[in-house]
Amino acid sequence: MTVQQPLAGRGDRIRRALEHIRNDSTDDYGQVNEFQAREYTDPEVARRERDLVFGRVPSIVCHGSEVPCPNDFITLQMPRNRVIVVRQKDGTVKTFVNLCRHRGALLEEQDKGRCRLFSCGYHRWSYDTDGSLRAITRDNTFGEVDRSQYGLIELPTEERHGFVWVVDDASAAIDVQAWLGPEMDSVLDGYGLGDLIAVRSEGFDEPVNWKIMQDAFLDGYHIQYAHPNTAGKLIHTNVMAAEDFGRHVRFIAPRKSIDKYLEEAPAADEDLSRHVTETHFLLPNSTLLRQPDHFQLLTFRPHPGDPGRSRMEMRLIVPTVEASGMSEERWNHLWEKNWKILIAVLHNEDFPLLRSSQAGLASADAGGMLLGRNEFVNQVFRRELRKLIS
Ligand code: FES
Ligand SMILES: [Fe+2]
Repeated sequence: MTVQQPLAGRGDRIRRALEHIRNDSTDDYGQVNEFQAREYTDPEVARRERDLVFGRVPSIVCHGSEVPCPNDFITLQMPRNRVIVVRQKDGTVKTFVNLCRHRGALLEEQDKGRCRLFSCGYHRWSYDTDGSLRAITRDNTFGEVDRSQYGLIELPTEERHGFVWVVDDASAAIDVQAWLGPEMDSVLDGYGLGDLIAVRSEGFDEPVNWKIMQDAFLDGYHIQYAHPNTAGKLIHTNVMAAEDFGRHVRFIAPRKSIDKYLEEAPAADEDLSRHVTETHFLLPNSTLLRQPDHFQLLTFRPHPGDPGRSRMEMRLIVPTVEASGMSEERWNHLWEKNWKILIAVLHNEDFPLLRSSQAGLASADAGGMLLGRNEFVNQVFRRELRKLIS
């Protein structure tokens, strides 16, 4: 597969989706591919993914607005390391392994907060938020230590396009711009995501492999079957106009409100953007949805040991109250309402299906299974992941 239409105008891409509805077609990957259950259950496959994917390439850990001020931090479990992500005094963000260099106690237990230093609960060693070892308690008896060698272990971190990206390996380098490539880097650049804020964010630990989770949020084929009374009423099933950037993908899924243009073609300059959702698959583990007035970010992180578990995080990323021109009350009400709808669909419709997929794949004699030509973005996801782990 090669790049189809690099940075085609949005209107052209929407018109291509409209053609697909007329023809009962969708973008075609060109071939059906078989896959095996062990890709979702084998501990050795999971280990390779942790090391060769998350240990090598940048993935998003949060939006910058979640650590707005110096000394603001969040903690999370990456596939290889438990980490603390903390805003520095100079405005940059650093990520540290969440572990005390004395005898390995977990250093910070809170999910998020603001602190002047990280202080270990075991023997009270303390570290500056820049990671340096500040104090060894009772150091007259502890003995001579070169403190510069026992600061917190730092992971490669970069803030770009409003998001904080981390490579989960202390010995790796990070270059988010190079990883995104010129097309996706310029697409994200155009959105001004750094001016928005994550108004809601929540994580869900599910007994499901991370790839099954990620696949479900690139899938336009399941909509009317899995979501007949919610998304299925609003969004076309099995219609997608995608651009394969060779690693990341941008794709348009038309809403049913576009159907009025089936009879009568839209004028050449008609803005059709409110009739579609534009989605971005950011390899390895994020789906960024662009809605008319906000963004949603979905990330899927493997469990550090069990191939059958993962954590999904969902974020609603929106204009600030000031930029929205709304009253604070109306702004809060709007996003709370949006959030509740999203959460209900996840819990009531997607998660039960995905848990049952994982349960099904646990059978020893599962046999080969298939990804169709119509499952374009899932095919790219699998193709790129195989490149990384082979
Ligand atoms: S383990 Fe942290 S101070 Fe001893
Ligand atoms: Fe779904």
